[in-house]
Amino acid sequence: MKDNYDVWWQKGNETDDDMARDHEAAWYRTISQIDQADIKDKKVLDFGCNQGGLLRLLYDTIPFQQGVGIDLAKVSLEKAKEMAGNRPLQFYLTDTPVDVKQRFHTVLSTSVLYLIEDVYAHAEAIKAVLEPNGVYYATFSDVTNNPSREYMAETINKYGATPSQDHTLKYVVDSFVQAGFNVSVMKEKVPEEIVITHYEDFYLTPNDYLRNIYEESFLIKATLKAGA
Ligand SMILES: C[S@@+](CC[C@H](N)C(=O)[O-])C[C@H]1O[C@@H](n2cnc3c(N)ncnc32)[C@H](O)[C@@H]1O
Repeated sequence: MKDNYDVWWQKGNETDDDMARDHEAAWYRTISQIDQADIKDKKVLDFGCNQGGLLRLLYDTIPFQQGVGIDLAKVSLEKAKEMAGNRPLQFYLTDTPVDVKQRFHTVLSTSVLYLIEDVYAHAEAIKAVLEPNGVYYATFSDVTNNPSREYMAETINKYGATPSQDHTLKYVVDSFVQAGFNVSVMKEKVPEEIVITHYEDFYLTPNDYLRNIYEESFLIKATLKAGA
């Protein structure tokens, strides 16, 4: 396992609490794009779950049999455990899915693939815990043609506990195809109203922010091929 840390995001007083608040609207959109049959009564893993907000929202929207979250952020995982309530959720401090010694019908990750150094190895690690014909949904933005590419990476590397990896969509798709998945890609939904006030948090211009939302952000669906 890689080194763990207390929280993933730390920018002055801003921490994983703020990230969770900022990501919530995107979780609603992601959930609306997932096939409900992949969640209902299934076993679900959230890779890079942080405080567990996506799993809570998912369970409250489409009840599943069992949910597991893994992450390297210790304090955030403690919060995830506290906030789980009576939902059937478990959380583990690890970056290695096989550590939880369970298999899953569906794996999810939101805003995590861009932090994974070796996506070929990641695809194999997900495959190792998936049931036959299991599915992995992962949100991913290819910012390699975005003029704010370097600015974004500098920001992530300054305040995030793990560095940005600058992957292309081709690299991500090729990784999953090589591991034996059928891969499809959905355009991530565009919010009806885009709050642009704080574009400088991650982008040099409002245009770069919009380019990311309108053109570069995808929900990848990788389905394990029979016999893979
Ligand atoms: C940008 S945050 C996204 C958190 C959450 N999925 C969300 O949508 O708000 C990235 C998360 O991935 C976790 N992470 C990064 N690399 C990881 C790894 N190799 N294994 C497990 N978790 C990882 C970080 O600790 C952090 O919680």
